[in-house]
Amino acid sequence: MSDIRFDDKVVIVTGAGGGIGRAHALLFAKHGAKVVVNDLGGSTNGEGANSEAALKVVEEIKAAGGTAIANPDNVINGDRIVECAMDNFGRIDIVVNNAGILRDKSFAKMTDADWDLIYKVHVEGAYKTTKAAWDHMKNNNFGRVIFTSSTSGIYGNFGQANYGMAKLGLYGFTRTLAIEGRKNNIFVNAIAPTGGTRMTEGLFPEGAFDKLKPELVSPLVTYLCSEECKETGSLFEVGGGWMGKVRWERSLGIGFNPDEGFTPEDVAANFEQLCSFEGAVHPKDNIEALRELMANIQKFA
Ligand SMILES: NC(=O)c1ccc[n+]([C@@H]2O[C@H](COP(=O)([O-])OP(=O)(O)OC[C@H]3O[C@@H](n4cnc5c(N)ncnc54)[C@H](O)[C@@H]3O)[C@@H](O)[C@H]2O)c1
Repeated sequence: MSDIRFDDKVVIVTGAGGGIGRAHALLFAKHGAKVVVNDLGGSTNGEGANSEAALKVVEEIKAAGGTAIANPDNVINGDRIVECAMDNFGRIDIVVNNAGILRDKSFAKMTDADWDLIYKVHVEGAYKTTKAAWDHMKNNNFGRVIFTSSTSGIYGNFGQANYGMAKLGLYGFTRTLAIEGRKNNIFVNAIAPTGGTRMTEGLFPEGAFDKLKPELVSPLVTYLCSEECKETGSLFEVGGGWMGKVRWERSLGIGFNPDEGFTPEDVAANFEQLCSFEGAVHPKDNIEALRELMANIQKFA
């Protein structure tokens, strides 16, 4: 296997002033990329701003012989981050959407502001940054995009209705961008990372925090963004040196006669079979997803 290199490639890593984003930025730079280190520098709950965090990571990269520029913009103005990449490096090849905050509260106590801010930073921020970069990547006939999802979105987590909504929304975003980007060699994947950062302080069992080093997430991200990697539309869980791929699974289901109709009692009587994963399928796209439904229509035609 040859070395994975990003010479002449420009990567934006959002939220790269600390935690997992910082680790991504350092690894991309080590492998030859020119890195835009974006970070607003606020608190975990999205308050305040400070350009120091991004500047410090740029210093680290430069001290190690790499090339980087700091960008203090809010991802909600992601077009400015792309502008910074174009002004300083003249191109953009890779976008790693990583910036994130938390506003954890039970749904009963959640305010509109908590809901909106989480949506804005995670979803709108990733949209604005990726959207501004998209045409540049299309013109270069090369692009790689990473969205940062979460197990809280995939599986749910108490107190994270807003965050879970945003994080699984990013996977829906991934699926469609992968379809649209493929013909222009733009590949799009999502990760659900686990790392010991300021965001997860106090959450893991004793001893685990130090083992869950943020830098253990970055080799997967870096590989997914390489020319060598043709993977697209996928979701990976990654952390602590372990990584695995996630896919949808759907039961074979049950089919009633669409012309005769059926009752809620019919559904109840067949509910166990409806939910049985024996012989389950793993649809890869809309066409595969509709296969059983279409077969049912034909069966009773
Ligand atoms: N740490 C985990 O176990 C874990 C688990 C699941 C998902 N994630 C996700 O991984 C990503 C990185 O999280 P982390 O654990 O490194 O947290 P972190 O708080 O250490 O890093 C997040 C960075 O994003 C920056 N940021 C926040 N809002 C921003 C904005 N509007 N514009 C620009 N920068 C902004 C912060 O200043 C911070 O440096 C986040 O999207 C998070 O939701 C982390």
